[in-house]
Amino acid sequence: MLSVTSSFTPDSELDLLFSPDLISHEVKSQLHADVHVRPLASTDYRRGHLQVLSILTKTEDPGESAWVAHFNSLRALPRTYYTIVMVDKTTDLIAGVGTVFIERKFQRGLSCVGHIEDIAVDPKQQGKKLGLRIIQALINLSENSGAYKTILNCSDKNIPFYEKCGFEKKENEMARYT
Ligand code: ACO
Repeated sequence: MLSVTSSFTPDSELDLLFSPDLISHEVKSQLHADVHVRPLASTDYRRGHLQVLSILTKTEDPGESAWVAHFNSLRALPRTYYTIVMVDKTTDLIAGVGTVFIERKFQRGLSCVGHIEDIAVDPKQQGKKLGLRIIQALINLSENSGAYKTILNCSDKNIPFYEKCGFEKKENEMARYT
């Protein structure tokens, strides 16, 4: 996994997954001056995207060209995948990530559900409210997409964090691994 430190790259110089204007301005205004929130960019392989994700689970490196092809496949599905990153402006590296996936339903007047996935904050940056701000931005994206609910799965140890983000425990998760 390649990552380089360099000076901060503004959104205008990046190829982004979706429009940065869709990200909550309230969340943006609450961030420390050294942190920037934006959509995932086509060059984020080089800013440590996979290293941050690897905090969550085993994350194999597919190589940059396969990573970019995957980015392009997500972008080809507009209004569906919203992956955001918190960028440390002092290094231009990714400090936190999160995704909300919009599932379109036939029920509830053809409404939709937002599924929050793959939340991770660099251990060196944890405890600074980055996780909370990622979740707030994703809830805003979900609700602005018309979702009647926003849901996620998590381990027991993360329940207090999600309760602080306004979630409550509901039903059970079932899983079958291949
Ligand atoms: N237990 C109890 N409280 C917690 C925990 C926890 N595990 N984590 C955070 N909090 C509290 C904080 O103390 C803070 O409370 P306060 O407002 O009273 O001060 C509040 O939650 C917000 O905390 P943040 O600083 O925003 O949390 P952080 O930036 O450290 O991110 C996260 C939390 C994302 C869980 C981070 O610890 C992390 O990346 N962990 C490893 C990966 C992981 O488990 N991700 C979640 C997987 S579930 C999913 O992806 C749907």
